[in-house]
Amino acid sequence: MQKTILVTGGLGFIGSHTVVALQEAGYEVVIVDNLSNSFAFVLDGIRAITGILPRFYEGDCNDRDFMQQVFSKEKVEGVIHFAAYKAVGESVAHPLKYYHNNLVSLIVLLELMQQYGVANLVFSSSCTVYGQPEHLPVDESAPILPAQSPYGNTKQVCEEIIRDSVQAGMPVKALALRYFNPIGAHPSAHIGELPIGVPNNLVPYITQTAAGIRPELSIFGKDYNTPDGTCIRDFIHVMDLAEAHVKALDYLLRQDAPSLYDYVNIGTGKGHSVLEVVQTFEQVNGIKLPYKFAPRRPGDVEQIYAKADKAKQMLGWQARRSLDEALRDAWQWQKALKEKGILEKMQKAEANS
Ligand code: UFG
Repeated sequence: MQKTILVTGGLGFIGSHTVVALQEAGYEVVIVDNLSNSFAFVLDGIRAITGILPRFYEGDCNDRDFMQQVFSKEKVEGVIHFAAYKAVGESVAHPLKYYHNNLVSLIVLLELMQQYGVANLVFSSSCTVYGQPEHLPVDESAPILPAQSPYGNTKQVCEEIIRDSVQAGMPVKALALRYFNPIGAHPSAHIGELPIGVPNNLVPYITQTAAGIRPELSIFGKDYNTPDGTCIRDFIHVMDLAEAHVKALDYLLRQDAPSLYDYVNIGTGKGHSVLEVVQTFEQVNGIKLPYKFAPRRPGDVEQIYAKADKAKQMLGWQARRSLDEALRDAWQWQKALKEKGILEKMQKAEANS
């Protein structure tokens, strides 16, 4: 019998790729998404890859009545909770919006999981919980530093909410995955990242610049204490990250203990500088990218990359795809946005919403 997994935020960037990976691993997927930062046509992209249309409920995870209906209709065995706001700058300007959305949705989910006897939870956390770590690569024993933004704080508090619930005896097995920097797209170019407006993140900004949508990339800071002066991050292909969720779920389903909480880094273990990313993008795609150096961006940590050994030992997972591959797939996706008329679809969906 196929196990049914509820994926909240399943039409977003990481969510949609994870839905594909889950379907390919034989899970049945039910998506809840409020389309606040995603589009219903992503379902067509998922079906184009796997041949399976997941069941989709449009609604908000903060809406207990709506979520109750989903739990009562579906025989859910596990939840992967992606649905959250994620823009660091916006969270500084609108903290309550972030605290309300990101915390209440998790609380509603945990309460319903308890009510319906759903035992398995994979939670989207972030390497942001480490701030600027003292030792690199950073492992899971590193101290959690005061968050730099309300967004970062929501990730820390959500981890604590899950930990405390488990400690109090709630019969749930939960894993928080601390993601490093997800980039790339599915190699079919049927799904990928769909930033609305000016992208905050590096790779969508690069691909939009290469496509002529933005005149030039600004590299924020060239005087960091790194070999080329630009920041260093652990860039992970989104399909590797998606597969980590499947392994996390498999792991939880294998555990006999009625309740557990743990957290694990999901990164490649390798750091690449911003300049290296730009140069690799140019090389693998044969494109010259207009860029300039600009002042440091407030709140950026200088460098961070993962020690990914725990994921390997515990989940039997490690990243398999290279930076080259991720940057090639990101560019194929940017081109598909135009060729497949996805930009027009986005405009239509936005106009209808
Ligand atoms: N960068 C540029 N130019 C840009 C965009 C980004 O130089 O136009 C640089 C940034 O300054 C940074 C690096 O590229 O040095 C990576 O920036 P991203 O915005 O792509 O990613 P971050 O490392 O800032 O973000 C990640 C996660 C967030 C998380 C954050 C914590 O994507 O979810 O780390 O700081 F909150």
